[in-house]
Amino acid sequence: MVKKNCCVFISGKGSNLLALIHSSRSYNFPINIKLIISNTKKAKGILLAKKYSIPIKISNHKNNLNEIEIINELKKNKISIICLAGYMRILSKNFLKNYNGKIINIHPSLLPKYKGLNTFSRVLRSKDKSTGCTVHYVNERLDSGKTILQKKVFISPKDNEETLKIKVQKKEHRAFSEAIFRIYN
Ligand code: GRF
Repeated sequence: MVKKNCCVFISGKGSNLLALIHSSRSYNFPINIKLIISNTKKAKGILLAKKYSIPIKISNHKNNLNEIEIINELKKNKISIICLAGYMRILSKNFLKNYNGKIINIHPSLLPKYKGLNTFSRVLRSKDKSTGCTVHYVNERLDSGKTILQKKVFISPKDNEETLKIKVQKKEHRAFSEAIFRIYN
């Protein structure tokens, strides 16, 4: 099978990146991770790039790798799908236009509920009985693009932000790969 070239954008731990790396190693998974971009050199996920020998570019304010340069890197690597895995920078309209319909994001709530940051504390305050994660296309409005897939978790009265995050992230790690299968099948 001819795999699509994928770039994963990260800013943090990279647990979703790791899940995608594992999936991409299987021969029938539709993507190959060709490039990783981090907006900070402090992201722990950078270690994964090194461990799995995947090229990485840091795009922070210091080296000022701007979006035009990122787009050049993406073109050079013939990237046809971008996975935002905890990427904490807003992409410009111009960038989104260049990759329209080819950028997907994972968000730790059942969208359209709890767009934006601090989802777990807001969910817990709400007294909702369940929450989850959403993989969706990225458009110009925050966490508002078309949903590809959602996974639900139940909230126990004993949950706190940390336990809820662990539960939701466990689902995320499967959701991202399943969403990619769904896109290409
Ligand atoms: C995930 O929980 C994702 O939903 C959110 O950022 C977090 C990234 O975690 N957008 P990691 O870096 O993949 O571990």
